[in-house]
Amino acid sequence: MLVEPRVFERMTVLGDSARSRLLMLLEEGEFTVSELVAVLQLPQSTVSRHLKVLADGGWVLSRADGPSRHYRMTPVLDATARRLWGLVRNEVRQGAIGEEDAERAKAVLALRRDRSREFFATAAGRWDTLRDELFGAEAEVLPLFGLLDSEWTVGDLGAGTGQLAAAIAPFVAKVVAVDASAEMLAAAKSRVADLCNVDLRHGELERLPVADGELDVAMLLLVLHYIVDPPSVLAEACRALCPGGRLVIVDMRAHTRDAYREEMGHLWPGFTETQLEEWMRSAGLEQFRYRPLPPRPDAEGPLMFLATARRCV
Ligand SMILES: C[S@@+](CC[C@H](N)C(=O)[O-])C[C@H]1O[C@@H](n2cnc3c(N)ncnc32)[C@H](O)[C@@H]1O
Repeated sequence: MLVEPRVFERMTVLGDSARSRLLMLLEEGEFTVSELVAVLQLPQSTVSRHLKVLADGGWVLSRADGPSRHYRMTPVLDATARRLWGLVRNEVRQGAIGEEDAERAKAVLALRRDRSREFFATAAGRWDTLRDELFGAEAEVLPLFGLLDSEWTVGDLGAGTGQLAAAIAPFVAKVVAVDASAEMLAAAKSRVADLCNVDLRHGELERLPVADGELDVAMLLLVLHYIVDPPSVLAEACRALCPGGRLVIVDMRAHTRDAYREEMGHLWPGFTETQLEEWMRSAGLEQFRYRPLPPRPDAEGPLMFLATARRCV
């Protein structure tokens, strides 16, 4: 009978107790050489030599992390390798040495966890600053992108230079970004040049260039205070939403900074909750929700709110 010779090579690689023990550990997770030394209680040179044989045979992968290298078992094995490993693993696992390794591995992982806990115990006072420095000031809102449905078409109404459209486009099916200013749209165009699912449309929010029910979500970010007749824009946004679709507004709470009219052309000095609720309801929206947004320490403008409502089904 003709036998695939590769199976013998694989048997040779696995036919060593230290290598099989290593593989058992690396199947469960990632370990550094020094952690593997601590678990197997073998000299570092021995562990490194066996890791090289396993890596050359395609059983393990490694990645560099600063001065250390982390090893793990190759996640996808072909059918022969899987069967062979299944047999060897059962034998190793049942032996006393396999149990001992598993116990030592738990202790090594606990030590790793303790190290990160130790860091957080001492870093609690400066973590916020450190996180901002490492990952930017808005890191806490990034997980919220995961709440966007990948099937959605989202309207960014009064999109300006397209910051919001660009941020959400990777997480949804399509963004329809509407603005009346050709200059703003030109800036948005270059911002979203690499995003194929942003549809920029020139038009007025009072007569949206959007079909009835085209949007799953419509967003008005810092736009409403520029609108002459907000109720008409809310009604138009409601028309563009599918039944049950959600309107999201972020804008300024009512304020007394009169200079904004002159300086920035604001038409409304922010909005109150009551005003918005009334307009939303008249527009055909329900489930109104209003939340004051916490002030950002570095923001100089008026306080803001978030309001949402759904188009009646
Ligand atoms: C303050 S900017 C906000 C832009 C963007 N939403 C943001 O947060 O960066 C307001 C935008 O709304 C647009 N806009 C104002 N009134 C509009 C209207 N009636 N129809 C369409 N766009 C309008 C302006 O051209 C401008 O780009």
